[in-house]
Amino acid sequence: MDGIRATLCSRNAHKARELERLLPGWTIEPLHAENWPEETGATYVENARAKAVFGREVLGPDRTYIGEDSGLEVAALGGRPGIESARYAPEGAPAIAKLLAELDRVDERAARYVSELVCLMPHGEVRGSGTLAGYIAEESRGAEGFGYDPVFVPEGEERTVAELGDGWKQRHSHRARAARALLAALGGALVLVAAGCGGMDRDTKKVLHAFFAGGPVARALGERFPHKPGTLPCVLHDKGVKLQATCATDISLVQPARAVVTLTEAWTHGAKAHTWFFFIRRDGTVQSVIQEGAPAPKP
Ligand code: IMP
Repeated sequence: MDGIRATLCSRNAHKARELERLLPGWTIEPLHAENWPEETGATYVENARAKAVFGREVLGPDRTYIGEDSGLEVAALGGRPGIESARYAPEGAPAIAKLLAELDRVDERAARYVSELVCLMPHGEVRGSGTLAGYIAEESRGAEGFGYDPVFVPEGEERTVAELGDGWKQRHSHRARAARALLAALGGALVLVAAGCGGMDRDTKKVLHAFFAGGPVARALGERFPHKPGTLPCVLHDKGVKLQATCATDISLVQPARAVVTLTEAWTHGAKAHTWFFFIRRDGTVQSVIQEGAPAPKP
């Protein structure tokens, strides 16, 4: 989805560079700030959100902020260092030496990277999660990436992430997956609306038609979004990503200048049901998105 200008709330220059490449079409500005808060959340999501909230405190409520938190979870260490990964030992050689010492003569070396992204918009937030499964090598190999990459071998590979390199990371890393999930969360749902999924009664169709007839940009959006009732369930291909959902849409005008698209979707590939509220300005740009999630009922 194009046109989102966001402030990236991260002190880690490696992560900031990775994320900039992972959100094509977005304008990403780094947050320059002092006195960053301690990471005290009980989960990655809480820490990611705290970073985004800190950005909002520094620059004000009208922008979009991205917070990210990530970590390495090692099965034989009961999931440690996990959320404490950044504080386990100084990043790089010291953290790797400590990890290899803890795993000395340990055969079970399964591990995974986790990344959580929280995108905080003026009226709500959207999230994306990603993981990368693998194992911890016996010794450090490779020069690219950062952190634990010289000892992390992804599933199905023989080389470490530091050997596989930044190009590989951009396609397959936990952060790449989290960024794709975030983009799918924002853009995929709009694609579903575009295809006219869901049942709309006459009145909402009339309201939507009137709304999108409002100006050239809105008309262009209306052409992309034919908003005719679709059949359920729907399967769509969005830039190579197969989206499957059953969903219902409802559109209402809350103010003359703003429409709200409510999209309730039940994804068939993940056990999640979501309701999305897209606040769309009259010029056709998305002002903000709120997602409410709940576990899907058992089939
Ligand atoms: P935080 O998200 O800033 O709390 O830091 C997460 C920590 O997890 C980093 O300092 C690294 O030690 C580790 N980590 C997260 N992502 C990666 C990665 O892509 N490669 C290697 N280490 C990572």
